[in-house]
Order: sequence, then structure tokens, then C-alpha cells
Amino acid sequence: MLSSIVKLLFFLLSTAFLHVSGLYEDQVGKFDWTQRYIGKIEKLYWDQSNPSKKLLVTTDKNVLASIHVYNGSIAWRQILEDNDRGTIDAVFHQDKYFVGVCGGGRYVRSWKVETGALSWENTVHHIARPGADIKIKGNDQVIALTPYGVYSYDLLNGKQKWKFSLPNSDGTVFDRVIVRGNEVIAIGHLPGAHVTIVKANNEGVISSQKSIPAAWINKETR
Ligand SMILES: *[C@@H]1O[C@H](CO)[C@@H](O)[C@H](O)[C@H]1NC(C)=O
Repeated sequence: MLSSIVKLLFFLLSTAFLHVSGLYEDQVGKFDWTQRYIGKIEKLYWDQSNPSKKLLVTTDKNVLASIHVYNGSIAWRQILEDNDRGTIDAVFHQDKYFVGVCGGGRYVRSWKVETGALSWENTVHHIARPGADIKIKGNDQVIALTPYGVYSYDLLNGKQKWKFSLPNSDGTVFDRVIVRGNEVIAIGHLPGAHVTIVKANNEGVISSQKSIPAAWINKETR
């Protein structure tokens, strides 16, 4: 009796295992296939724009892509420049919009989620440096943090609304921007020294700036 229960358990376990490993292999095939065409996924968003069940991804191969969730097929793919101009530093997705800072903080771009077509592009600077973040504020404004300052653009046409500079002459790297109510908050850090927080209002006018000593911060801390 006991041995037949053990046998049954063993049978159930082994079929469960086969089932799981079968699914797993199936997924590996799909992911490998996709990886060959788009690269290794770095950022992933659920496409909020329509009920079509797609993912929006960016990859280590400077690719933006939209992927059908159920079958893994690529709806569209945008391959950016195959050099440091095309690196994707930061992206943000909201509704029909996908916006990003590229090329080491040099460009701010906006793509249409439906087709992957570029809506607009702004050149911020000509030299790449680290530190970028991007958000959409409300439903009409892009807030882009770059190594050269925080910029506000019209979400629809990319027209610049305002800009403020960041206190980074001492080497502080700003890599986070938060949008909260009518405030825009940029956060930076200098390894071994401090965290700096700059707050601005809805017109890009700095309202406060403070540095908090944080000697424990090293290059790896984020
Ligand atoms: C994957 O699914 C989408 C949406 O249902 C469909 O349009 C597309 O043709 C499918 N692709 C393949 C290769 O089956």
C-alpha cells in the first residue's frame, strides 16, 4: 500500500517536472529567438495605450521594441545608432508615448507607441556624460534630466518650455528626477561626499537646493 502511494507520488512528481521543464524550454526558445533580434532586455513596460497586450522594451543593443505578449512576436522594432549616440540612458512610458534620453544625455526623443515612429528629437548637448532620467508630467509635459540640466518639453511637439541647470561642477552626478504635484525634484550624488536635492517649481524656477553629507555613498550605491 505504502509503496504504491510512493510510486504514485513519484509518477505525479515526475510528470509535474516534465510539464514544468517543457514550459521552460518553450519559453527559452521564444526568448532566445527574440534576443537574437532585439538584444537583452533592460527596461520593460506594459503597453498602456490599447488592449492589444504588448510589452515595450529597451535592450542592450540600442533597440526599442514592442512585443506581443502571447506569442513573443515583434510588433515593431527601432534600432538606434550602433554607437554611443544610440545608447538608451533612460526611458518612460505613458499612454501613447514612449520618451527617452539617449546618447549619454545628448538627445531627448519621443516615439509613438503604436508604430515606433520617432515623433520628435531634441539635441541637448554634443558631449556624452553620465546621469539621466525622464518622466512625463501630467499629460502634456516631458521632464528630462540630463548631465546639462533639467529640461521641460511639450510632449506633443518637443518644443522646449523651460530649463534649469544643476549644481554639478564639483562632479555630482544627477540621475533621478521626481515629479510631485507642481514640483520637479532632481537628485544627485557625489561618491564619498554628499547627496544633493534640487527642487524647482512648475516653471523651472529653483525653489530650494540642499546637500546632505553622505560619505558612505560610493560609486555602486544608487
Ligand atoms: C502574434 O499575436 C499578434 C496579436 O494577437 C498577431 O497580430 C500576430 O500576427 C501574431 N504573430 C504570430 C507570428 O503568430
